[in-house]
Amino acid sequence: MNNNILCIGAGYVGGPTMAMIAYKCHDINVTIVDINQERIDAWNSDELPIYEPGLEEVVKSRRNKNLFFSTDIEQGIIDNDIIFVSVNTPTKTFGHGAGYAADLQYWEKCARHIREVANSDKIVIEKSTLPVRTAAAMARILEHGSKNTVFTVLSNPEFLAEGTAIDDLQNPDRVLIGGSQTEQGKFAIEKLAAIYGRWVDDEKILRTNLWSSELSKLTANAFLAQRVSSINSISALCEKTEADVSEVAHAIGADKRIGSKFLKASIGFGGSCFKKDILNLVYICETYGLTECADYWRQVVIMNEYQESRFVARMLKAMFNTIAGKKIAILGFAFKADTGDTRESPAIKVCKELLQENAIITISDPQALKSAKRDLADVENLENIVFEADPYKATEGAHAIALLTDWRNYKELDFKKIYETMEKPAFFFDGRNHIDSDMLYDIGFNVYTIGQTEKTHI
Ligand code: NAD
Ligand code: UGA
Repeated sequence: MNNNILCIGAGYVGGPTMAMIAYKCHDINVTIVDINQERIDAWNSDELPIYEPGLEEVVKSRRNKNLFFSTDIEQGIIDNDIIFVSVNTPTKTFGHGAGYAADLQYWEKCARHIREVANSDKIVIEKSTLPVRTAAAMARILEHGSKNTVFTVLSNPEFLAEGTAIDDLQNPDRVLIGGSQTEQGKFAIEKLAAIYGRWVDDEKILRTNLWSSELSKLTANAFLAQRVSSINSISALCEKTEADVSEVAHAIGADKRIGSKFLKASIGFGGSCFKKDILNLVYICETYGLTECADYWRQVVIMNEYQESRFVARMLKAMFNTIAGKKIAILGFAFKADTGDTRESPAIKVCKELLQENAIITISDPQALKSAKRDLADVENLENIVFEADPYKATEGAHAIALLTDWRNYKELDFKKIYETMEKPAFFFDGRNHIDSDMLYDIGFNVYTIGQTEKTHI
């Protein structure tokens, strides 16, 4: 068995995680393959397909040395004995479990492809986030091969967050490796642990059984999203009671048992995973007849949807119940700062609802305008959308600003200058609790910040 690594799926996870392995282990050849030619071409070009701080440096330092991007999946399977599978596992949109269950078709195609092509023993590693007990299904598919090839399946879920992926990969809180507790399973676990061991302390490399590893990934995302929904539910109460959600978050976060992270009230969590992974958990609970557990986790998603709708309702009410023909500047479209990713971004829903009210929206974002255009391509009144990279131009003549992504550079904007170019009364809706509301109010804005009572001059 050789030490060469293949990763099937060159996306937000496959690209950065494999680039980091190549960066840390110069003696290991790492190949990333994908069916998407355009994506592979971009990985091989000067403009990488994803924006992630620090990624370009890592990729460019190892590309074509021990890091390769290709569409030749079959050759990749033949040449490499350690195979990560990092394809997308979206929510199913059809048939049984539609809207909840994970769509496993991409993942299963990979398993079959590996089985058909492999002619030597392979360690196959689930990098994608999958329902608990998927590894068992994968092992069954692989074992039904006609050749005498031995396949060992491991679960090695990824915990990186977009925007901080490189740092998360260099200094992970933990690396989780699940495998079967047989000799063969333990051998494979240690082989993978040795690769991470090149830069991660051994006590941070957790070894578990397969099912614990798969379930820990879903559980971690569910707990993180639950914290956001919890603080967002409190933000609604703050807006009614003159409590300030930042003060409440600070006060409760000072308790070490609660901790201060992931308590930032917002317009709602976005991103490709939180919602899909919770719904997946809900589906699994229902499958095992655990209705109360399913209902408990489903509520995290319901609260998130409420938070998004509540934001638009507040805008409408503040602006005299009509925004038809009014210009609204959207600052930020990405689902969080430091990424160009807009998957499940709350901005999509907010913009669509504003367009339904016949508002004219100008969308600005430092990284996500290309994706924003794609996300809104199917709206009816496309002529009511303007895309403008420059925030000063985007806000010129606007009746209101809605800040939807917490980009750092928004804190440095000259809001006095912006205010002067806007229609009056000028409104500021801060969906991220990002800009000092007293400062905005003093300039003359009517300010509506998540989790604060409004500050108005009218
Ligand atoms: P992605 O959509 O960016 O990338 C997946 C890639 O797989 C695509 O480029 C697609 O073309 C490719 N692919 C699909 N089927 C294929 C096949 N049969 N052969 C070859 N390539 C194929 O997805 P992502 O964001 O990288 O997520 C991948 C997995 O990792 C998901 O299960 C996700 O839940 C999980 N995850 C994502 C993140 C994140 O921050 N995005 C973090 C942790 C875990
Ligand atoms: C999340 C997890 O943090 C990662 O550990 C996990 O690997 C990943 O999902 C995944 O499985 O895909 P990510 O979605 O990239 O990472 O970004 P987060 O930083 O978790 O933010 C998710 C959403 O929650 C964003 O919209 C963010 O703005 C929002 N959020 C986060 C808040 O509204 N408040 C907070 O306090 C934190």
